[in-house]
Amino acid sequence: MNLAIFASGNGSNFSAIVKEVKQGKIKAKLVILVCDKPEAFVIKRALRHKVKVVLVKREDFKNRADFETAIIQMLKAYKIDLIALAGFMRILSPAFVKLYRNRIMNIHPSLLPAFKGSHAIKDAFDCKAGSTGVTVHFVDQEVDHGPVILQRKVKIENRDTLARLEKRIHTIEHKLYPEAIKLLAATL
Ligand code: GAR
Repeated sequence: MNLAIFASGNGSNFSAIVKEVKQGKIKAKLVILVCDKPEAFVIKRALRHKVKVVLVKREDFKNRADFETAIIQMLKAYKIDLIALAGFMRILSPAFVKLYRNRIMNIHPSLLPAFKGSHAIKDAFDCKAGSTGVTVHFVDQEVDHGPVILQRKVKIENRDTLARLEKRIHTIEHKLYPEAIKLLAATL
């Protein structure tokens, strides 16, 4: 099974997945990192782990369709079976999602459908929710939405600061995402 990870930023989830692939715990080949931000730290992580980086900048294309066509050509060239979005800060078009139906997964730092969007941990913390969580799901045509693969609830503790809660959630993400990919890799 050929895996591609899409990421735009830090890449801590990327590293967690690479680790388990290298240890042979996930029966998949991590073929490429697709990144849309030349300055993203995830690129350094990929190079360190000798994972090929495909940099596709949105501004190099006149519209989203052309941008996505370039990505799709790349995915086909590398015979990618499964895409894992790991902090990829772009919304994929309905046509793209349809082409890879049930082959694109995403991780989100909340117990979806609660706290969608790009500030999910802060939103849960600020509104004093008793709990939040982590969700790995298939991507459909709505943002932070689609069939849930794995979900873990995280209780917000009295002694949590935002930074502490973020750290706890990221630690859970780094276990849950490899676990979900492992499940799918075993079925594909
Ligand atoms: C992760 O917390 C992930 O759940 C979140 O971006 C972060 C990326 O961190 N994704 C979303 O909020 C999607 N809506 P990373 O670059 O260190 O893996």
